[in-house]
Amino acid sequence: MTAVSTAQAADATGDDPLSQARRRRTFAVISHPDAGKSTLTEALALHAEVISAAGAVHGKGGRKGVTSDWMDMERERGISVTSAVLQFSYRDQVINLLDTPGHGDFSEDTYRVLAAVDAAVMLLDAAKGLEPQTLKLFDVCRDRGVPVLTFVNKWDRPGREPLELLDEVEQTIGLRPMPITWPVGIAGDLHGLVERADGTMHRFTRAAHGASRATVEVLDPETAAAEEGPDWERATEELALLDEIGAGYDEEAFQAGTATPVMFGSALSNIGVARLLDALVELAPPPGPRPDQKGDPRPVDAPFSGLVFKVQASMDKSHRDRVAFVRVCSGRFERGMVLTHDATGRPFATKYAQAMFGRDRSTIEEAFPGDIVGLVNATALRPGDTLWAEEPVTFPTIPSFAPEHFAVCRVADMSKTKQFRKGVEQLDSEGVIQVLSSDLRGDQAPVLAAVGPLQFEVVSARLADEFGAPVKLDRLDYQLARATDAAGAEALKGAVGIEVLTRRLDGQLLALFPHKWRLQAVAQNNPDLLLAPLVADA
Ligand code: G4P
Repeated sequence: MTAVSTAQAADATGDDPLSQARRRRTFAVISHPDAGKSTLTEALALHAEVISAAGAVHGKGGRKGVTSDWMDMERERGISVTSAVLQFSYRDQVINLLDTPGHGDFSEDTYRVLAAVDAAVMLLDAAKGLEPQTLKLFDVCRDRGVPVLTFVNKWDRPGREPLELLDEVEQTIGLRPMPITWPVGIAGDLHGLVERADGTMHRFTRAAHGASRATVEVLDPETAAAEEGPDWERATEELALLDEIGAGYDEEAFQAGTATPVMFGSALSNIGVARLLDALVELAPPPGPRPDQKGDPRPVDAPFSGLVFKVQASMDKSHRDRVAFVRVCSGRFERGMVLTHDATGRPFATKYAQAMFGRDRSTIEEAFPGDIVGLVNATALRPGDTLWAEEPVTFPTIPSFAPEHFAVCRVADMSKTKQFRKGVEQLDSEGVIQVLSSDLRGDQAPVLAAVGPLQFEVVSARLADEFGAPVKLDRLDYQLARATDAAGAEALKGAVGIEVLTRRLDGQLLALFPHKWRLQAVAQNNPDLLLAPLVADA
């Protein structure tokens, strides 16, 4: 099993970065755990003919996984902690699907991934609709202006009314739904989908457990009406209602992130999945000019530039290395080219560039805007860093999520202090966790700040396994953090239940509060104090 060679794909059309960028679609799936993201990934790959049988990219349930079972913890818990990239070709396009960790505790990683995509697929469970993690991730898409397509999954089993689900999307997140397909038959008894653009019905014969493709039969409206009777009637009545309220496709609104094309289907039964791929190819934007720190766009055909959006260590236990995932933003990447690491101004050689496909890797020779390159042993690179060739550029850094869990971390065996320090520094720079410190607490007992408590377990496991420094973690009672400045730190000195610490990576001062009432009281009593919300609270 190999991912499509980008070089091979390049032969098919113009080899210049602009033509190649137009053929790329780079996206991620955002969803709540259990909505079916892994199943959908598997089904997408099946349609794209990267692999012949589903199951191979699924990391769960004991099936052979390539998605992201790099750590023992992931295997034990069946959760996906790290991110993988899947590249495949579909209809002469190159699709880059960036996997995101399923567990909410790793939403910071997801945030970084969303900085590297051009579109997102919001995956909803037909019975559950919008769920908390989906809402949180949708907010990130909105913040970043990432256009969102919606796929309502699990239509093969009982669920809610389609109109009710659309209404929920519009009312809850203010995103105008624009259905491009519509179900015939209620959830749990799906016969097929109406293609809204031409009124035909695509009738499916369900495939057993997604192991092969569902068979599709295209019926014209007259035949569908005759054969489907009341189910067809109901679908057409609902569609007429949608026409009346003006839920037609509006490209501008989709690209602006105010409306979403909606599709229905079942990832498990492979229904509607090819339609989703078609929609990605036809509707989702190709890589475009990326604004730099000053807001000036870097054209896709400018010399090479890339954004490091993730740094991942120990993906392969046999050689513990560190891989930086770089999204190509402009130009052509060629293995071996020497880039400039913008943050330090130092040269960076790319001899060990790889295409990442779960645990499988293959050497990548060239890549174009929208593609993801894995740079091995990239110790100097951090998430948010820019790499460029010839013409300098600095892309805006990726903001950190607001931590909500805090713990003091101490080495269990004092003779391992050196390893402990090194390990903490490394995990901090990878962005696995945020490390906070203060003069009062000293170097030996930094405070770790996490979005979710599972991050602590990852840190503990990695410090013990990789650095030989088992640690003790003591949870602190703080629940929220606010950015402050030196004056704020001074004013809060000695305040009961509040502590000001420095975030090591960027020197930002963070004031930690036990709960929001304490924060509100302090803010009310000291209106001049700087207490700025961090990304996730904004
Ligand atoms: P996630 O990555 O979003 O967490 O979800 P995942 O794909 O693991 O799917 C969660 C559960 O939902 C799985 O069942 C999966 O089979 C089921 N599922 C996904 N898509 C569909 C669908 O279209 N229809 C139906 N009926 N079920 C779907 P499970 O029993 O938890 O796991 P497994 O043993 O089947 O792997």
